[in-house]
Amino acid sequence: MILLDTAEAATELLARRSSIYSSRVRLPMINELMGWNFDFAFMPYNDYWRQHRKLMHQSFHPTASTRFHPHELRATHGLLRSLLDTPNDFMNHIRQLAGETIISVAYGLDVLPKDDPYITTAEKGVHPLVVAAVPGSFLVDLIPALKYVPDWLPFAGFKRKAKEWRELGRMMVDVPYEAAKRNIKSGNAAPSFTSYSLEILDENQDVELQESVIRNAAGTMFAAGSETTLSVIASSILGFLENPGALKKAQEEVDRVIGKGRLPTFDDEHSLPYVTAIVKETMRWRDVTPIAIPHLLDVDDEYKGYFLPAGSIVVPNAWAMLHDETIYPEPFRFNPDRFMKDGKINPAIRDPAHAAFGFGRRICPARYMATSAIWIAVALMVATFDITKAVDEDGNVIEPKNETRTGLACVPMPFECSITPRSENAKRLIRALAVNEG
Ligand code: HEM
Repeated sequence: MILLDTAEAATELLARRSSIYSSRVRLPMINELMGWNFDFAFMPYNDYWRQHRKLMHQSFHPTASTRFHPHELRATHGLLRSLLDTPNDFMNHIRQLAGETIISVAYGLDVLPKDDPYITTAEKGVHPLVVAAVPGSFLVDLIPALKYVPDWLPFAGFKRKAKEWRELGRMMVDVPYEAAKRNIKSGNAAPSFTSYSLEILDENQDVELQESVIRNAAGTMFAAGSETTLSVIASSILGFLENPGALKKAQEEVDRVIGKGRLPTFDDEHSLPYVTAIVKETMRWRDVTPIAIPHLLDVDDEYKGYFLPAGSIVVPNAWAMLHDETIYPEPFRFNPDRFMKDGKINPAIRDPAHAAFGFGRRICPARYMATSAIWIAVALMVATFDITKAVDEDGNVIEPKNETRTGLACVPMPFECSITPRSENAKRLIRALAVNEG
């Protein structure tokens, strides 16, 4: 196992030499027994993976992904309404926002404001992954031949579990995809990754294969995108609790640029650099994917005199890169100002996106869409709510719990805070959204 601690090493190996550093570790339990070989984040580097990646790129490159802005905006408006009604439940509201965004971007499906069946099916499908991805959970990952033992043997509980989980994963992939296809057929579909991809399907090529690629890529999105998006937005709230001055500055910026008559939209992005700095700082300070997804080296290589054997697992230590104090002084402080100069984003400060979304040919294909979904959520929360530490019945300030659920994606554990509308005007603007969107 090779750990890369610097952006320079990661760029040299994972990006410049990407033709040999872009595969993935074999995961017998997840890919072979649980049937997660549909998830192209775990596929080896081969032609089948390349087809998924190409298709995803067609919908998620910087210009194409702006087509998803309306989906992101609508889900964020839902978040504001929920925060107004039940602010203490903010973690669930952000979870709903992330799930709704993915389901609408991937499939163009509408979701219910609570207990939505598509989101519930997806959550049930993804949950086993969280369990099975913990290294050492299943012996079959160390001894792959165990996958051939018969299910009925007393110690083959892992095979019976895998069978159960396979079914949940299959439902997560098939149920929304079939619903999207039905909507497209009846002419009721909102635009989505699935509808765009079916539109460009080549009838003269293997249609079944092309459809499997669309279904797999869409089915990968919930697992890859919902907890990650939830995590960054929740971390931005932790950032405001740690540095209340940052929220104040962002609110002043929004008031100055937008005024009180309306709420920010994507058109305001370039006029709200401090909001952008907050998003950058959150992604740096609480990097969601601190080791990205490890890559696999396909052939022997050499770097700075070290021999790197084929089959090595290459782990980019993105956390170290994003907390390098020579680039980000006082790296454990939440300080969006580090990205600002003369009221603008300072291009001289390294953008955390250089490490936060992974590396080389496996870099997160949805990074532009993910960043814009987070940006609009932060911009609208800042515009409408005051976010402070919670206070108990005796007036004592409750320090937020600073705990994280670790895994490939790190997510803040539930914490307390106080979220209140900034003004009657803010309330009115949020209620007006409800009327317009139904
Ligand atoms: C803030 C949110 C997100 C973060 C921090 C993030 C981060 C990452 C990272 C670190 C990787 C692995 C890169 C590597 O192997 O070097 C990755 C891969 C991936 N992400 Fe994201 N991601 C986010 C949101 C999303 C969303 C919203 C989607 C889908 C809509 C998505 C889809 C994917 C896919 C499909 C891959 C696998 C790419 C491959 O293996 O070729 N991600 N992401």
